[in-house]
Amino acid sequence: MNLFDVYPLYHVTPVSAKGIIVTDDKGEEYHDFYGGHAVISIGHSHPHYVKRIKNQLDKIGFYSNAVHNPLQVALATKLGQLSNCENHQLFLCNSGAEANENALKMASFHTGKTRIIAFKNGFHGRTSAAVAATDNEKINSPLNKQQKVSILPLNDSEQFKKEIDKGDVCAVIIEAIQGVGGLDQPSTSFYQEIAKLCKKNDVILIADEVQSGFGRSGAFFGFQHHQIQPDIISIAKGMGNGFPIGGILIHNRIKPKHGLLGTTFGGNHLACAASLAVLEVLESEKLIDNAAAMEAYFKEKASEIQQIKRVKGRGLILGLEFDFEIAELRKKLIYEQHLFTGGAKDKHVLRILPALNITTKHIDLFFNALKEVLK
Ligand SMILES: Cc1ncc(COP(=O)(O)O)c(C=O)c1O
Repeated sequence: MNLFDVYPLYHVTPVSAKGIIVTDDKGEEYHDFYGGHAVISIGHSHPHYVKRIKNQLDKIGFYSNAVHNPLQVALATKLGQLSNCENHQLFLCNSGAEANENALKMASFHTGKTRIIAFKNGFHGRTSAAVAATDNEKINSPLNKQQKVSILPLNDSEQFKKEIDKGDVCAVIIEAIQGVGGLDQPSTSFYQEIAKLCKKNDVILIADEVQSGFGRSGAFFGFQHHQIQPDIISIAKGMGNGFPIGGILIHNRIKPKHGLLGTTFGGNHLACAASLAVLEVLESEKLIDNAAAMEAYFKEKASEIQQIKRVKGRGLILGLEFDFEIAELRKKLIYEQHLFTGGAKDKHVLRILPALNITTKHIDLFFNALKEVLK
C-alpha cells in the first residue's frame, strides 16, 4: 500500500534526536529551530520526559474514560497552578484541531447560537468547524463550508462590533500570536475590546493557544500579555513535547453534563504522564523565563542582518520577515547548513520555533548559518 501523498517532503530521514539536535539515517546532525511545527517544547528526548513515560508504560499505558484516572487530576492541578487558570476545568483530547472543535462545540452548546467569528490568516486545524474557522479556502471542503463563519480583519474594532451586534454569534476564536498565518498579533486594545464585547453579547471567547501556549510566548499563555481572561483556552502541540495530547480549559461558569463531550483516547495515562513531565520541566528549568530572555537576544542578533525587514512574534514563537519569498532560503538552511526552520502562509516569513531551553550559543549558531546562506 502507498502512503496518501499529501505532504511535500524534505529529503531528510531523522532516526534519533536529543535536545535541539536531530540525527538522520546517515549520521548527519541537524539543529532543530522548528520543533516539528512548534511541538518540541522541552527538547527532544529530555531525560525526565523519557523516564516518566517509560515508568508509566511499565505500570499502565491506557484505559478509557470510564474509570478514574488520577493522572488526569494531577495534570489539571499542575496546569491550573502553572498557567494561573485555576478557575477553569480541563477536558483532554488528542490534537489541536480536536481541542478547537470541542471548544467551538461547547460555545454553541452554552449559548444556543451558531455563528463563529474568526480572523484573517487564522489557523485552527483541519476538522469540521475548526477548518471552517481557518482562513484558507483550499483546505475547506464543500461540507466544511456549510458552517456559519465570518472571517474578519485583525485589529478592526468597528467591523468586529458590527458583526457581534447581530446577535447570532456563539464564539470568537483568536490566536494571541498567529502561527501558520505569519506571526501577526492582535493589539492589546483590540484583544481587550473583543473580550469586553464577548461578555456583553453572551459570546464565548476562545483563545487558541495550540501553538502559542505552554510557555512559548514567554508567558504561560499568549493572551496573558494582554491582561484578558478567555472563556475557553485550547491547547496541544508543546503540551506533550511530541506525545499526541490536546485539551481545552473551560471556565467554571460553563457547567459540564455527562456525555456532552467525549473521546476514547483523550487523557490516557501515557499522554498525561508526558504532559506532566513537560510541566515539571518547564517549572524546574524555568523555561518560560528562558523563552522571554531568548526573545531579546534573538531580536538583538536579527537587527544585525540587513536583509531582515522585521522580526515578528514573541518569546520563542518568532518570524523573520524578508522582502523576498523564503522557500529557497529554507531549503539552503536545511541542506547546506543543517538547520530546520519553518515557513508560513505569508511566504516572506521564516518561522522560528525552537525548544524553550535553547541558549544564546544556539542563537549565535543560527545567525551565523543564516548569514552564510544570505551571502
Ligand atoms: C493555532 C493552531 N491551532 C490549531 C492547530 C491544529 O493543531 P493539530 O495539527 O494538532 O490538529 C494548529 C496547528 O498548526 C495551530 O497552529
